[in-house]
Amino acid sequence: MRVVIIGGTGHVGTYLVPRLVEAGHEVVCISRQLRKPYQSHAAWESVRQIGIDRSAAEQDGSFGDQVRLLAPDAVIDMICYTPESARRLVEPLRGRVRHFLHCGTIWVHGHSVQVPTTEAQPRNPFGEYGTNKAATETYLLAEAQRTGFPATVLHPGHIVGPGWAPLNPTGNFNPGVFAKLAQGQEVLLPNLGMETVHHVHADDVAQAFMQALANWSSAVGESFHAVSPAALTLRGYAEAMASWFGQPAQLRFLPWDEWRKTVSEENANATWDHIAHSPNCSIMKAQSLLNYQPRYSSLQAVQESVSWLIEVGNLLSD
Ligand SMILES: NC(=O)c1ccc[n+]([C@@H]2O[C@H](COP(=O)([O-])OP(=O)(O)OC[C@H]3O[C@@H](n4cnc5c(N)ncnc54)[C@H](OP(=O)(O)O)[C@@H]3O)[C@@H](O)[C@H]2O)c1
Repeated sequence: MRVVIIGGTGHVGTYLVPRLVEAGHEVVCISRQLRKPYQSHAAWESVRQIGIDRSAAEQDGSFGDQVRLLAPDAVIDMICYTPESARRLVEPLRGRVRHFLHCGTIWVHGHSVQVPTTEAQPRNPFGEYGTNKAATETYLLAEAQRTGFPATVLHPGHIVGPGWAPLNPTGNFNPGVFAKLAQGQEVLLPNLGMETVHHVHADDVAQAFMQALANWSSAVGESFHAVSPAALTLRGYAEAMASWFGQPAQLRFLPWDEWRKTVSEENANATWDHIAHSPNCSIMKAQSLLNYQPRYSSLQAVQESVSWLIEVGNLLSD
């Protein structure tokens, strides 16, 4: 198939584009061409790269037509954040694509009720990002049901891989937390450390997209979580990472209002966003309908990323 991927040079595209090429697809990658994939791969030599700024092209109304003129069999949209943005693609592509895959997020769930959360549970999104992503999912799946538009939605967890800092055991992106655990220093955790995070390796997200493409009849009109097999509690995550560094975990717990004063506002906001969601998602649907078999546990994914942080000297204590 000719597969057009919009935003294919980022976390997921780094792994997904080589997988698409290796599977024999003709790949066209749209980006602003401001950045390169996190890892080089010979597959990129056979990828047609097109420079388009989606925001600018949406403003002048040309984006959907530019994608349609590429005559894709399948479109993978990695960077759609609102139903309006999705609509600008769906209208011109209606009746012209075999498969349309949208990258969502587990934030569509907001808080969970019964865990592990399944895709069937009613959505309780909060915050602009999660609310817009949930509305986009609703729009695309309704288009699939009402008009047969061949949409599939994949919902990644916290995407991890070598090349960027993973979400840490305090629920933010400060790599200094790993440095403290590595040195056996005390780490403060909010509340009882029992709130959860749910990572996924970027290559496993890529696998989920590949499996959706390969299982068209099970995938169309459906959404799927693309996460590791199990979420982590902050406390368990901190303990496991300390142990990986060969140190006992020195953890202390503070009520949220006290804890937040011990970190920067940026880190407090990131932690709040993560613990307010406390995701814990099921992969049963993707396993049974798509044969999604993640290669990485949450800890394995994080450890690969932290090994990269150590390698490039970015594991500095704050
Ligand atoms: N990161 C996470 O932990 C996480 C978790 C759950 C869900 N998600 C979802 O994952 C998706 C993002 O995937 P990702 O993390 O692989 O992406 P990413 O690493 O943020 O990369 C974004 C890609 O889009 C391109 N891009 C950005 N702005 C663009 C524009 N205006 N026009 C054209 N291209 C543009 C970038 O290249 P240029 O900069 O060169 O244009 C790059 O190829 C989003 O839908 C997000 O909601 C992410």
